[in-house]
Amino acid sequence: MSEPTIDLVVIGSGPGGYVAAIRAAQLGMKTACVEKYPVPGGTCLNVGCIPSKALLDSSERFDFTRHGLAAHGVRASAELDLATMMKRKDGVVRDLTRGVDSLFRKHGIERVEGTGRIVNAGEVEVTGAKGTRTLATRRILVGTGSKPAALPGIAFDGRRIVHSTDALTLPEVPKRLLVIGAGAIGLELGSVWRRLGSEVTVFEYLERILPGMDAGSVKLLQRALEKQGMKFRFGVSAKSARVEGGDVRVEVEPAAGGERTVETCDVLLVAVGRRPFTDGLGAAEAGIRMDARGRIEVDDHWQTSVPGVFAIGDVIAGPMLAHKAEEEGIACVERMHGMPGHVSYPCIPSVVYTWPELASVGASEEDAREQGLGVAVGTFPFLANGRAKAMGERDGQVKILADAKTDRVLGAHIVGPRASDLIAELAFAMEMGASAEDLARSVHAHPTLPEAVKEAALAVAGRAIHI
Ligand code: FAD
Ligand code: NAI
Repeated sequence: MSEPTIDLVVIGSGPGGYVAAIRAAQLGMKTACVEKYPVPGGTCLNVGCIPSKALLDSSERFDFTRHGLAAHGVRASAELDLATMMKRKDGVVRDLTRGVDSLFRKHGIERVEGTGRIVNAGEVEVTGAKGTRTLATRRILVGTGSKPAALPGIAFDGRRIVHSTDALTLPEVPKRLLVIGAGAIGLELGSVWRRLGSEVTVFEYLERILPGMDAGSVKLLQRALEKQGMKFRFGVSAKSARVEGGDVRVEVEPAAGGERTVETCDVLLVAVGRRPFTDGLGAAEAGIRMDARGRIEVDDHWQTSVPGVFAIGDVIAGPMLAHKAEEEGIACVERMHGMPGHVSYPCIPSVVYTWPELASVGASEEDAREQGLGVAVGTFPFLANGRAKAMGERDGQVKILADAKTDRVLGAHIVGPRASDLIAELAFAMEMGASAEDLARSVHAHPTLPEAVKEAALAVAGRAIHI
């Protein structure tokens, strides 16, 4: 093994990897980041969070111009220019990925282009367009992320039978879009194309959308999406799909078993989850233990079964979220530096960026009751919030769960306008161990959407003012 010339080699430049690299450089480590694509940023910046949010924002503007502006006394008509919408999205991605490169330059982080393979705890072999190079390092951090999962019997063709990456670049609006999977991707990308004119039907194996999230809140979101024209079929599983003539023919079976039927559509989006990505990494050969689902196993300090090799983000267990990957990257590197790096897993918020949005932190009502916790529930509808009324937003509510004995906030679930922004106050409250009373007693500016949070906190003790 050669003498290490680098303190830390990060493999993967997604939000887990690039943020970890920056934190390591801040702490004085000589850091290199290996990325197999020519552009940094990983799934999140290139084919995930950012392009999907750019399209969600653009399509929401289109939809609002067509269906929402007239109520405000503004007469307008809208015509879709899909090519420009896509170009704008690509520009947003380009600016942000260039931003990562400039942050790397600012912090003296070397970006090494090519596929990284772990030779042993002190060596990473990088194979790229310029040949093969071996990096000798003191430590390795794996942040190789995830890839879309496929269904047996359904092969992606990139045009008519697609996963999320292709669904971000469709050249025209499909007349009929069939989505398999009512998770975050199915609902967000289903929303984009519905707003742009597709008839969207979502097929889901379970009897509900967004499994794992607070059932009552999810029901409100489902109703709002149905009102917008999105259709759902529950308890069904797609078994095969093929392109025949002008149609994609999808064979569907009831989850409980029974007769198969054939559904047709123009584009089929398969959004049934993502799998950890370790192809070409050499992890198993290096002795790194994986779990049954192919995720890299780590201890409480994100160290793998091989001392000196660490892993974070989508490639390990836990929610596949960009901010989870970032926090793990920072905490892991701080631990390497002898600092008390820590991630508060119960306080990680998650957001579905439909309209209305759904944002959640902490326990769902079902979780809390299953754990035998006595819960006090406070809800407040946006219908009774002055700012939401002024905006013309009527759907949704804030729901806060507090411990019935101590009043400590256990969880919060918001369906409504800008729920993604509103959840920050509740995540912070949970992080600080705040009570519903703490939230209820803080002064919130008027008229604002966060007043609905204060009112829901008041409702925990049965004393909301405006309802
Ligand atoms: P990734 O972002 O997947 O990055 C891994 C990187 O490693 C990639 O660039 C890959 O090329 C590189 N790599 C892999 N193997 C090697 C190798 N051997 N050598 C060199 N490089 C390698 N999350 C949210 O929190 N909010 C959202 O709004 C959101 N929206 C999403 C929308 C979509 C459509 C999708 C698909 C995902 C979305 N996510 C969202 C999830 C989010 O993108 C992931 O949780 C996040 O990107 C994980 O970060 P990561 O750093 O672990 O991995
Ligand atoms: P998911 O795991 O969130 O949802 C997949 C859905 O597909 C589930 O409801 C599941 O029951 C269903 N399903 C599975 N097999 C099926 C079958 N054969 N037939 C019908 N339905 C089936 O996965 P998704 O939406 O693909 O997202 C992947 C990951 O990306 C998620 O972990 C998510 O955290 C992340 N993501 C996060 C976003 C956000 O934070 N806003 C946005 C998009 C993705």
